[in-house]
Amino acid sequence: MSRRPLIAGNWKLHNTVAQSLDLARQIEQGLDHATACEVVIAPVFTALHAVGGLLSAGSKLQLAGQDVYWQERGAFTGEVSAVLLRDVGCTHVIVGHSERRQFFAESDATVLQKTRAALAQPLTPIVCVGETLEQRRAGKTLDVVLGQARAVWRQVETAALPKLLFAYEPVWAIGTGLAATPADAEEVHAALRSALAADHGHTVASQVRLLYGGSVKPDNAASLLAQTNIDGALVGGASLVAADFLAIVRAAAPT
Ligand code: PGA
Repeated sequence: MSRRPLIAGNWKLHNTVAQSLDLARQIEQGLDHATACEVVIAPVFTALHAVGGLLSAGSKLQLAGQDVYWQERGAFTGEVSAVLLRDVGCTHVIVGHSERRQFFAESDATVLQKTRAALAQPLTPIVCVGETLEQRRAGKTLDVVLGQARAVWRQVETAALPKLLFAYEPVWAIGTGLAATPADAEEVHAALRSALAADHGHTVASQVRLLYGGSVKPDNAASLLAQTNIDGALVGGASLVAADFLAIVRAAAPT
């Protein structure tokens, strides 16, 4: 079963509209348009409309929100819905990033609601899971990661699962320069895929793409992406530098 690689850039809280346009243009111009890789960028909400306009003319680049609220409209000050993300050209959305779980009290229950709201649009959710350093040291990595992932996939119909992506992002690897080793990352990815097979069957498990995230850089991307169960990457810091991000895309699908 061959799964199409996907590289997503999570720009987090960086870049004005002008800076976002500039970075998106650099990435777009540097992309090999024959690449087999899906390429997604997630600018801040305020830049999505402008970047969406830039990309609309048959671009290879796809657009993602960094978060989404599950209600479509109403008295929910500060929130943005899946329909509004679609409206500005998003095809994907990041859900349950560890920074949202850590700083904004995101729970497994809210991650599920957001995932469902995205799928209903449809937007492709990139559901993030990952353990903290304390949890890893306590030997709880697989419990935590599988627990977060099952909280979503056990509540989603089997038919919808191939439209979903999971990103394994160990919290201790995010923004630290300390990526998981390819073997450690692969161990978790393989566990995710076999747990998915146990719950939804081998066919679906072989279709769902599993990304790795946490200090992915041009110099470690190829070895991480070479692992059997790693189908792409969610990239933070290195996605803010066009040349670095493009090098990671090339590592995912060498031409
Ligand atoms: P990083 O961030 O690549 O800067 O570690 C990854 C992420 O948070 O998605």
